[in-house]
Amino acid sequence: MSRAELIATARDNAAHVKAGTIAQADDVLMVPASKYTDPSRWQLEMDGIFRRIPLMLAVTAELPNPGDYKAMEAAGMPVIINRDRSGVVHAFVNMCSHRGAQLVAPGRGNSNRFTCPYHAWSYNQTGDLVGIFAEQDFGEIDKKCNSLTPLPVQERAGLIWVTLNPKSTLNISEFLCGYDDLLANWGFENWHFFDSRVVKGPNWKIAYDGYLDLYHLPILHKDTFGSDFPHRAIYYGWGPHQRAMGPDPSLLKLLDEPEEEWPTQSLLSGVWTIFPHISIASFDGGGRGVMLSQLFPGDTPEESFTVQNYLMEKPPATEEIAAEAKEQFKFLEYVVQEEDYATGLKQQRALKTGAKPEVMFGRNEEGGQNFHRWLDEILAASDEELPALFTRR
Ligand code: FES
Ligand SMILES: [Fe+2]
Repeated sequence: MSRAELIATARDNAAHVKAGTIAQADDVLMVPASKYTDPSRWQLEMDGIFRRIPLMLAVTAELPNPGDYKAMEAAGMPVIINRDRSGVVHAFVNMCSHRGAQLVAPGRGNSNRFTCPYHAWSYNQTGDLVGIFAEQDFGEIDKKCNSLTPLPVQERAGLIWVTLNPKSTLNISEFLCGYDDLLANWGFENWHFFDSRVVKGPNWKIAYDGYLDLYHLPILHKDTFGSDFPHRAIYYGWGPHQRAMGPDPSLLKLLDEPEEEWPTQSLLSGVWTIFPHISIASFDGGGRGVMLSQLFPGDTPEESFTVQNYLMEKPPATEEIAAEAKEQFKFLEYVVQEEDYATGLKQQRALKTGAKPEVMFGRNEEGGQNFHRWLDEILAASDEELPALFTRR
């Protein structure tokens, strides 16, 4: 099923290569500049997007073993994601039931229990309160009613989605609109988690627009990697999730071979984004790898931070390969920090002046157009209306 979709996409892309075309949007889209700068719009996005719809917060390869956990902050919410002894992934608010201390410092580890650093209450891997320090002195409470607060979570295709609203009833599979079946072709559950780091940037949408934008590659990135890249892109969507591909001439030679023999890897090119804040892009330093970027709004509309993760198809077998992967990952930090986000920070200062009421997304920038339309549609939908948005493919 998903392979058939990959093949259909490859055939469509190859047809564009042959014809020298791309799929264009109907019109140029105007987006009010205030959507990037207005604090009330930013707050709406925090509440209506980041704390309401599923976010891809971790990869399977970060917590492969029973007892592995990761603690992080996402959109102001402290979260623990862990794997219990039977292999099932859970997510909780990182908050003690006693007086709300954070149980675990940000980072990764392995533990059977989470013990609060404040008064040593402890919780097991499924979030049950299992120990109260000096319980005989504390007074009676029902332990069963004081578990950690669980968050909706789903592990699919080697990736882990969490919804930051404990009361959310939105079905995570439906939100993925079948895109998870396509992502499964990567086999990320068997990949190696090489390294991660945090890069600070401008408003999260200014930053994220760049990940959907191939138009800028040979211009802004001309001195680093972009000179050989096409500026043209074709966008394929599954609900709000989009894959951006340049017209890929390497697909043409597949057309002469029987479809069953088309290697899956050749069918996965381009940038795979996951709404609203993930980008997965391929690199080859140290062998086949991807940089998986997770963008998060910071504390204000003018700040974001990006967790850059480097995943490798195979763990580096030699120090030399590890050094190549390290070099590749360092290069990507430079490109994002010094080219993309340096540009974005200045763009943000200019947008704040209000001198231009609108910015534009061209007919060739369909990815950005789709992204901004989906944001507006989701923000306008009530909780009851939300699931119906994701039944469209
Ligand atoms: S706040 Fe956690 S034990 Fe007191
Ligand atoms: Fe870029």
